[in-house]
Amino acid sequence: MKNAATRYTKTAIVLHWLIGIVIIGMFALGWFMSELPKEAPKQQAYDLFNLGVYTWQLSEPASPRTFYFNLHKSIGVTLLALIAFRLYWRLTHRPPALLSSLQPWERKLATAGHHLLYLLMVAMPVTGLLQALYSKYGVKWFGLDFLPGLDDKAIRGIFHEAHELIGIALALLILIHILGALKHKFIDKDETLSRMSL
Ligand code: HEM
Ligand code: HEM
Repeated sequence: MKNAATRYTKTAIVLHWLIGIVIIGMFALGWFMSELPKEAPKQQAYDLFNLGVYTWQLSEPASPRTFYFNLHKSIGVTLLALIAFRLYWRLTHRPPALLSSLQPWERKLATAGHHLLYLLMVAMPVTGLLQALYSKYGVKWFGLDFLPGLDDKAIRGIFHEAHELIGIALALLILIHILGALKHKFIDKDETLSRMSL
């Protein structure tokens, strides 16, 4: 059964851009927070990324590393729920058929690339969650207890490594994906980008 639609559904489009932007933000946050020093004075309030836009008040003082790690985990858990909903939507709503102007190799590459994006998009938060579960800290969701810390260094180490390696693979794939979208827009001048636009 072929899908006769030529555009993605509004829901698929909103989910694509919302999740895409948050994932890119999570990369920035992940790399930023990993560089923060282990020893630093605790603070009760945080001016988010020192931008002067929003100051976060905490119920108890935390070091910058703890604050931004907790933020990464809280956003990550929320993102995982959104990704799960996106997968459900994708499985229950066929995407439009690829443009008929695509070469056979472009079709294979686009399909394989999209499937791999879905796989890594799930693997990334899942390995992050498992890494946090097996650490001694566990996971809090915006201050609420979500998962306890099982404190197993060996298992945590495996998921830590996986989160980092899958992250590199996903970042590269997203870069190729964006370059592909730009190629369709500016070189092929076809409808690829507009059918993913509201
Ligand atoms: C500036 C960033 C981005 C641009 C310009 C972009 C553009 C696009 C476009 C134009 C499509 C539709 C392709 C088609 O019609 O065949 C698409 C599909 C897709 N994008 Fe992106 N994207 C971006 C970021 C991301 C990110 C960060 C992810 C997640 C890791 C992502 C995951 C996907 C997936 C999985 C599909 C396939 C949807 C499906 O057919 O089920 N995109 N993207
Ligand atoms: C798509 C979602 C996610 C992305 C893109 C992402 C990205 C990243 C990146 C880039 C890093 C830095 C890795 C490095 O050291 O080079 C990182 C670290 C980390 N992430 Fe995530 N992450 C995601 C989801 C999660 C989730 C859901 C959790 C837990 C609930 C999590 C927990 C962690 C932890 C604890 C670290 C720090 C590892 C350490 O240095 O000890 N992440 N993440």
